[in-house]
Amino acid sequence: MAKRRCWGIYRERPHSPGRVDDDRAILDAVAVALLDYDLVAELLPAGAADAAFASPGAGIFAMCEQDGIIRRLAEAAQAGVPVVNTPQAVRNTYRRRTAELFAVCGVPSPVSRIVDTRAPAAAPGIPVWVKRPDFHATQTDDVVFAGSDAQWRSALAGFAKRGIEAVVVQAHIPGDLVKFYGVAGGGADPAWFHWFHHKDQRLAGHAFTREALQRAAFAAAGALGAAVFGGDAIVGADGAPQIIDLNAWPSFARCRAEAAAAIGRHLAHAFAAARLDSPFAASEME
Ligand SMILES: Nc1ncnc2c1ncn2[C@@H]1O[C@H](COP(=O)(O)OP(=O)(O)O)[C@@H](O)[C@H]1O
Ligand SMILES: [Mg+2]
Repeated sequence: MAKRRCWGIYRERPHSPGRVDDDRAILDAVAVALLDYDLVAELLPAGAADAAFASPGAGIFAMCEQDGIIRRLAEAAQAGVPVVNTPQAVRNTYRRRTAELFAVCGVPSPVSRIVDTRAPAAAPGIPVWVKRPDFHATQTDDVVFAGSDAQWRSALAGFAKRGIEAVVVQAHIPGDLVKFYGVAGGGADPAWFHWFHHKDQRLAGHAFTREALQRAAFAAAGALGAAVFGGDAIVGADGAPQIIDLNAWPSFARCRAEAAAAIGRHLAHAFAAARLDSPFAASEME
């Protein structure tokens, strides 16, 4: 079978706080996994990705998150290029949209609302978490716990001072924090799922089933349209996981080899759907 070219785009460095190497390593590992499917991936930084758009080949997989490049990826997707995750899914991981979509799709998740930081409403049902409205935390004060009226006011003032006019305010869910990773299946291939307890916590040890967690995680990812994802859930005393955070394409640092194989499988399927009549098919390799 002829080898086909495809492209991977790394995450922007400011979006990988403390994880630049891990974020790079998963993309590198995926490129290796794709060789099994005769897909030859070239990897580019988000700031120098012109070649991927000039001649997308079988498709583009991307960890980037900034608006400019997401817009270019959306144009490519519009033109029929398979893009994983879809630009729409990446935009949907902006917390404000996530909160709306989770509510609409009935994903088990804490009650969330949008609050104007300059004209703050009265304190909601404290304790709450106050979160920046766009992408995942890139600095420590992007996600702030407010357990008292004073903390609530100080959290809002902190965001207002940084020019952030609206925040997502989420009810605090007591329980055990569980982290998860997932990759959607493709064709006859099954989905892949992995979870673990976050270190640095004293576990209450609430019992839950892997099936319940996986169901909640894939419902959350499905609501956003993310095929390659990670996230956080809280399992309370009732054993029912609630999704508090969903991110597109995490670093998969704890299970990189397994994740890369699952992502490779998923991409091979997604890229098989590339329109062969498109002008991009011309970039098939010898
Ligand atoms: N609604 C919530 N209930 C309980 N704990 C929360 C909640 N929201 C956030 N947290 C805690 O704060 C951490 C960071 O929040 P998260 O939304 O995952 O942001 P990020 O991953 O971008 O830093 C979570 O891992 C969890 O420990
Ligand atoms: Mg998180």
